[in-house]
Amino acid sequence: MKEKILIVDDDEGVRGILSRALGASGYQVSSVDSGEKAIASVRETPHDLVILDMVLPRVDGLAVLKDLHALRPETPVLMITGHASVETAIKAIKMGASDYLVKPFRMEEVDLVVGKALERTRLRRENVYLRRQLESTYGVQNIIGQSPEMRRIFSLIEQVASSRSTVLITGPSGTGKEMVARALHFNGERRSRPFVSVNCGGIPDTLLEDELFGHVKGAFTDAVGDRAGRFEAADGGTLFLDELGNMSQSMQIKLLRVIQEREFFPLGGTKPVSVDVRVIGASNVDLRKMMEEGQFREDLYYRLNVIHIKLPPLRDRREDLPLLIQHFLAKYCGEMNVPLKRLRPEALRALVDYAWPGNVRQLENVIERAVALSFGKEELGREDLPREILDAGAVEVPVLQIGGDGFSLDEVLASYEQRMLYRALEHAGWVKTRAAELLKIKRTTLIEKMKRLGIPLKGAGEPPSRGPSPPVEGSADPAGRD
Ligand SMILES: Nc1ncnc2c1ncn2[C@@H]1O[C@H](COP(=O)(O)OP(=O)(O)OP(=O)(O)O)[C@@H](O)[C@H]1O
Ligand SMILES: [Mg+2]
Repeated sequence: MKEKILIVDDDEGVRGILSRALGASGYQVSSVDSGEKAIASVRETPHDLVILDMVLPRVDGLAVLKDLHALRPETPVLMITGHASVETAIKAIKMGASDYLVKPFRMEEVDLVVGKALERTRLRRENVYLRRQLESTYGVQNIIGQSPEMRRIFSLIEQVASSRSTVLITGPSGTGKEMVARALHFNGERRSRPFVSVNCGGIPDTLLEDELFGHVKGAFTDAVGDRAGRFEAADGGTLFLDELGNMSQSMQIKLLRVIQEREFFPLGGTKPVSVDVRVIGASNVDLRKMMEEGQFREDLYYRLNVIHIKLPPLRDRREDLPLLIQHFLAKYCGEMNVPLKRLRPEALRALVDYAWPGNVRQLENVIERAVALSFGKEELGREDLPREILDAGAVEVPVLQIGGDGFSLDEVLASYEQRMLYRALEHAGWVKTRAAELLKIKRTTLIEKMKRLGIPLKGAGEPPSRGPSPPVEGSADPAGRD
């Protein structure tokens, strides 16, 4: 689409020259001979640029500039001045004009100045657009949940988004740690500055150091020039350090230094670089435990832990499941351009009963898959759910294959017993009396079994482990091969 330029000048000669030149440069040009007509025309259609003569009959250029600005503050205005009166030009720029052109025109200058003014508009428009898009992707409104735990997290995000304090986000894999980090950034005052994310897991020290702090030319053989690290890239914004638990002791010291001093040395550098960065760390391992075991520095832990957001596993906030399911159904039906599908009650039941070891990410994948596979159907049923979810709900009797070595009946039974206990406990919200009722055993018997089977008594345990795995069908049992 051609960019629209309006020329406002009472001199017919000027209008003609500018119209022809800018038309030839590919713009859509219109012109008027008075301020009143300019206002009327701009009110009717937004223009990308207005070129305005400083001296007009009746109302002068500066007054028109003021009105244009009030009407469409986003439209840039270039002033035309007859005599190179720097004073009036400066006055115009103070009043919001983008730039000015001096008569008589040099055409290459006109092209340049017009090009620059339009470029600024384009960039500003893109920025606004990008920001809106980012906000709609990363705002708190995209974090779904109504459980008391999640509500507490929402209010925490609101409270601390605009502070500069370091935040530590912990929780099992797939619980939304990165989502919370982004929400913190995009709800805070740093939202228009960069959000930079670095995964600290499984990267050798020197690479991670280079990534975070950059290097100077000659720091190592391949360092042919200076390279800025992610701390610099995040200047003014937020640096998200994921999988902090995997950082080596020496990197921990370096990180602590930047957080404390707000400056660091690039690899091979002798001058410190100072930055204004908010650090948000995340870990799916228990950093406090690592600290107590001496694997994570205590001083760094407390530096990071100024604000701690703990994301609970999905199985501890089952009341969020229906809302999350609905959210992902809408999301993927929308993405795949199909009408919103319903979930049949038995399918919902199976989803709500499942233990979700992979948390929200796993749920999202399951829904995406179901929507993709149920092409043309209005309702999703159990048949659209993956095997592992249906299996977990059923007491399946596997076809046992007795191989050369046989198998331990005790182990197989213990594994089933453990799974059934987990199911009952989860169903009962870890209220043991209630779980015992469901299992039709005494509370004391339940506790005794839990101890024997290694189920934590307070319910913060792992998802049902597959335990001593029974040789079920499909396992790589030698006897299954021919
Ligand atoms: N409360 C939630 N509402 C909506 N979507 C969520 C929620 N929690 C997580 N998700 C989605 O689940 C997926 C995983 O989230 P995210 O990457 O933030 O998890 P994580 O805790 O960082 O996981 P990991 O430890 O594996 O890196 C993302 O696609 C995210 O959009
Ligand atoms: Mg993550």
